[in-house]
Amino acid sequence: MENFKIDVDADGIALITFDVPGRSMNTLTGKVMQEIPEWVERVKSDDAIKGAVLTSGKSSGFCAGADLGDMAAGMLTGGSLQDAFDAGWRLNGALRALETCGKPVAAAINGLALGGGLELTLACHYRVVGDSPKIQLGLPEIKVGLFPGGGGTQRLTRLIGVQAAMMAMTEGKSFRPNDAKGAGMVHEVVPVGTEIEAAKAWVKGGGKATQPWDDKGFKLPGGGPYHPAGIQNFLVGNAMLKKQTYGNYPAAMNLMKAVYEGVQLPMDAALRVETRYFIKTLMTPQAQGMIRSLFLSKQELDKGALRPADVPKSDPKKVTVLGAGMMGAGIAYVNAMAGIETILIDRDQDAADKGKAHVEELLKKRLSRGQLTQDKFDALLASVTATTDYDHIKGSDLVIEAVFENREIKADVTKRAEAQLEPGAIFGSNTSTLPITGLAEASVRPEDFIGIHFFSPVDKMMLVEIILGEKTGKAAIAKSLDYVMKIKKTPIVVNDGRGFYTSRCFGTYVAEGMAMLEEGISPILIDNIGRMTGMPRGPLEMHDDVALDLSVKIAKQTAEDLGDAYQPLPGSEIVRKMVEDLGRYGRKNGKGFYDYDQKPKVIWSGLADLAPVKVDDSTPEMVEDQKRRLLFRQAVEVARCWEEGVIDDPREADVGAILAWGFAPWTGGPITYIDQYGLKAFVEQADAYAAKYGDRFSPPQLLRDMAAKGETFYGKFSGQKAAA
Ligand code: NAI
Repeated sequence: MENFKIDVDADGIALITFDVPGRSMNTLTGKVMQEIPEWVERVKSDDAIKGAVLTSGKSSGFCAGADLGDMAAGMLTGGSLQDAFDAGWRLNGALRALETCGKPVAAAINGLALGGGLELTLACHYRVVGDSPKIQLGLPEIKVGLFPGGGGTQRLTRLIGVQAAMMAMTEGKSFRPNDAKGAGMVHEVVPVGTEIEAAKAWVKGGGKATQPWDDKGFKLPGGGPYHPAGIQNFLVGNAMLKKQTYGNYPAAMNLMKAVYEGVQLPMDAALRVETRYFIKTLMTPQAQGMIRSLFLSKQELDKGALRPADVPKSDPKKVTVLGAGMMGAGIAYVNAMAGIETILIDRDQDAADKGKAHVEELLKKRLSRGQLTQDKFDALLASVTATTDYDHIKGSDLVIEAVFENREIKADVTKRAEAQLEPGAIFGSNTSTLPITGLAEASVRPEDFIGIHFFSPVDKMMLVEIILGEKTGKAAIAKSLDYVMKIKKTPIVVNDGRGFYTSRCFGTYVAEGMAMLEEGISPILIDNIGRMTGMPRGPLEMHDDVALDLSVKIAKQTAEDLGDAYQPLPGSEIVRKMVEDLGRYGRKNGKGFYDYDQKPKVIWSGLADLAPVKVDDSTPEMVEDQKRRLLFRQAVEVARCWEEGVIDDPREADVGAILAWGFAPWTGGPITYIDQYGLKAFVEQADAYAAKYGDRFSPPQLLRDMAAKGETFYGKFSGQKAAA
């Protein structure tokens, strides 16, 4: 075997060490899945083996789960349904053979065990886990449009009950070792380094070689569907799932079905039910889009797939952040967490200190959760220097500017900072709206000037949008990507333009909500429709979050910049009145489309006068049409960005849309949405919307041409954006 090593000790205990060669982390590759039955058979049939302990040979973790690239390729290669079932059954069958091999098997979990990795341990009779804050145990498959297909839906429910297991699986939540023990997922938490010893001691001490569910008289904790308490889990669970997912995720519904049917059956039959639903889910366009964007593409971007290969790798050690406000302080925090020395500069010492205090607050949260030791906390905090003195910039590899969104102020700090910068250092602006090429005019080294656009809150949002000005050089791209990789965020690289990629396309979602309001659709219905499309919040709620006064400011700035070419957006007069006449700025002052002085927030009653409800149709057909309208408006803008050269890689467009503004994840992203809808059908539908609602829906020529040739984005452009 390539991936497993077996050592039998003097007591007849086989230590099976899982160690995939040439990789830093174990995953369940096709080859691993082939080898599991081999060692299971050896444990079962070798008389010299009395029992076994399964552990990992990696210091990085036990196993991170299935190799999704391998799995998707292996199961979707166009064979029959029976072939797909057989491929899906391979792991389930092997794990069932493991738990019924007749000898006690313990898992010594010496690192994180996620997805298929945890499922492997659930098929062991006993689980010992190291007491490390780095270890997580969980079944996160739902996050990529799947659910656990290696027995997890059946074993976890039988271990911890339907309610707890469903919550863990529908949220993809992971557990720290002691929480896992408290929940009943593992048996023992032991000091790091003693996992194998403890697991062997259990085997030697007469560990039982059967699973609880194979014992006669086994009762499902909390009861099954025909138990008075158990029925509640399904009645309420079903409703909750619908509320959370609006039926957009087949994985969630199929998970519920696999659990409902499975817990009423003996294990062998239950596992077959799980495999059938798993394969059914894997074949949905939703799962395929999500696996591609949220796992495969994201992983490629995380590893710097688009980094210019001919620029030597850099490792930023010192970074200056100009402006210690909300964004600057957040950036200083993520720098500190990545081990980067940070100079945090503001106009006066108080403002700089306030920024550092925010860093301290975030670090304290980690300290209180046991994720940092006091020593580490002290060291990280000390790595941030709050100052007003530009001399401290010397020796920085990178400067990130996050001062007020004002061209003159940005130009001033750019000049002052550049005076301290050595050759080879780069300057990034975190502007959210001002074109980079224009800002670079203040720079004496525009080839080193680039946009590094973070999202708020910086510590939580995983995307960074890198924006190229006209003169930005290759080295600046490579160095910014090295930086983004070091702080462990996902980068996309886009070209300059008003609102770049993410702000521009996100804006269309909010603006379309305003158009619907102006047409007289009820505001409550608008936001419900928004959530039903799979967006995280409705367009009016999001407008409140972004701030209504900001939207008025941007409209004025755009009108000034565009002159005669400016066309006011639908509904902009409603927002102007709310801000200028009524002081309603959005969530930040508790007054927007909603009133926030009560919980839950309620629609502001005065909105009925400004935007009277005129549309009384709320039939399912109308709702479906308006859901599609909201997705189309965004997708058309994404296609326009493509035509204008703002974006040019399907992976960046899809991953960026989901991570930046929450574009309905079930679609796999706007480009996958267009591809799966079919270019021809998409163009026809967009034309119909354009006739009804206006030119903003008109498909760009690129889409028409591609539709005429029967092309798709992924078919035509995959792999084209080589590292520039
Ligand atoms: P903020 O108002 O919280 O912070 C700006 C900071 O810059 C303040 O602490 C201010 O004292 C400081 N500052 C102003 N002039 C300065 C100068 N001459 N020298 C040094 N410091 C100076 O603003 P926020 O929200 O942090 O935004 C900063 C930048 O980030 C803006 O360009 C904004 O467009 C951009 N941005 C904001 C996002 C958001 O969600 N708030 C998201 C992405 C980008």
